[in-house]
Parts: sequence; structure tokens; C-alpha cells
Amino acid sequence: MKMPHSETLATELIWHDAVASTNDAMRALVEANPEQPNRSVLATDTQTAGRGRNGRVWVSPAGKALAFSVLLRRRQPMLAPTWLPLIAGSAVRRGVERVLSDAGVAQVSVGVKWPNDVLAKTGDGAWRKIAGVLSEMLPDGSVIVGIGINTTATSAELPTDEATSLAMLAGAQHETGAAALGSETAASFDPDAVLAAILTELFALLDELADRHVDEVRGAVITDLITLSTRVRAILPGGEVVEGTAVRLSDEGGLVIARADAAHSAAEAAEVMVAAADIEHLR
Ligand code: BTN
Repeated sequence: MKMPHSETLATELIWHDAVASTNDAMRALVEANPEQPNRSVLATDTQTAGRGRNGRVWVSPAGKALAFSVLLRRRQPMLAPTWLPLIAGSAVRRGVERVLSDAGVAQVSVGVKWPNDVLAKTGDGAWRKIAGVLSEMLPDGSVIVGIGINTTATSAELPTDEATSLAMLAGAQHETGAAALGSETAASFDPDAVLAAILTELFALLDELADRHVDEVRGAVITDLITLSTRVRAILPGGEVVEGTAVRLSDEGGLVIARADAAHSAAEAAEVMVAAADIEHLR
């Protein structure tokens, strides 16, 4: 596939018509070539064995979703590496907003659910997942940031009712349904346009970090997070459940939850910092 816009942004762009997992393919590339450059990007629209966070699978219909992995070589010493997935979530949120506005789809709210699910508010007022991020660190400290985003899938093609796609958001607004997009709108959602929009945002945030504008980058992440000030239920990796209000991010980008008074005993802290968890937003 021709990727003229993305090619100007990535140091090296590798397109696969189909691949098992772009994160695994990128890792193999780095193992084969230790000199694989910073900001190399490996992408497909047909990922057959995508991986999600916490060992889950990431299912995307063939040809209807973009999956890509970005190799980040340079450590960002100004900010803990745990911020990288959050920065990627922000970049995706911003890229999605830009692509929707380029397609003439107005005023769709898009936000990041901590740590890095990108959600869009659909016509019925519910937030549905449009993209996910899986960041993995290599032994030498490089990071592979993997991003999956539903582009032209219809609701019938997505694995769950809790997911949405760019085309569904556009279709709902034009009341034509996702399957009947105009050719201009469909072009806005082609892999090159979507990839270029997200890479532009990601590299802009990373450039800001490299320029030592740490507070600005942290501020961008915090602005994009819809989890803060929300009542949440966090399911920790060991199964423990913490309920309360998400009040802030820690220095490492963890989520600080203030437990409701009744929800903690004298022995338990009123505030809990979670570094990894599945989060549910409670109404
Ligand atoms: C999640 O929401 O659980 C994260 C999903 C991440 C999916 C992307 S698609 C590109 C990259 N390759 C993978 O195998 N997974 C990530």
C-alpha cells in the first residue's frame, strides 16, 4: 500500500498486507537489525494475532482497522518511561479528533481512559473504545509503542458493542450508517491518513519532551484524560478491587484513587496509587 504522508514522518516505514502482530514483527526486526532506527514504523490493516494489554487478544476485522508499532530508541530522561503509553494515548486522541474533523465529522468527544484506551462518545451518549495502546520495553530500554484503531469497521464487524470505529462515528452523524460513507470521508479514514495524523501528534509530543517542555507534555496528557475526577473501579493485577474517585496522576503516571470514606477501614490508606489496573468508569 502506498503511504505517502506517513512516509514523510517515519524514519522508515514498513507496510505488511497482513501480519500476526505488528509489535512482534517490530521486535523481530530489531532483533535482526540492532541498528533499526528510532521512529521506525511497521503497519498493517490486517493483523491476524493482535495482542492487547494484560495478555488479552486484540481482534480487528481484516482490512477495516489500522495496527501499527513505533520504535522509540531514545530514552526520555526528563520523564519516567511509564509516561510513554500515556503520551501515546494522548497522541491517538488528538489524531482521531483531527481525522474526524478532516472528514467533516463535527464535535465528537474523544478522550483517553487511563492508562491508554481511546474512547469516543457515540450518539447514545455512551463512551466506546475506538483505539488501544500496548507499549512494550525491549532489553536495551527501547520501547515499542503498538496502536490499534478501528477505522472502517461496521458495528457488526467489531467484536463487542463496547467498541466503535471512525466510520461508525461518521455514519451516525450523517445518518447514513457506517457502510455507506461518501468517498471523501472514506479517504479520510484510509490507513495513510489515519497513521499520518497519529504520528504527527505523537512525534510533536516527543519533540516537546526532547525540548525539555515536560510540564507541557504532562499537561497535555492530563487534559486528554477523561478518567480524572471520575468515580472509578480499579481491578488490580492480583484481583484486588479499589473504588473511589480518580484524583490525580503520580510522578510515574500512575492513577491516584481517593477511596470513598466508607470504602476503607482505619488500616487502609484513603488514597491508593495504582500503577497497572483495568479501570471501569462508574456513573
Ligand atoms: C489494548 O487495548 O488492550 C491494547 C491493544 C493494542 C493493540 C495494538 S495493534 C498494534 C500492536 N500490535 C499488537 O499485537 N498489539 C498492538
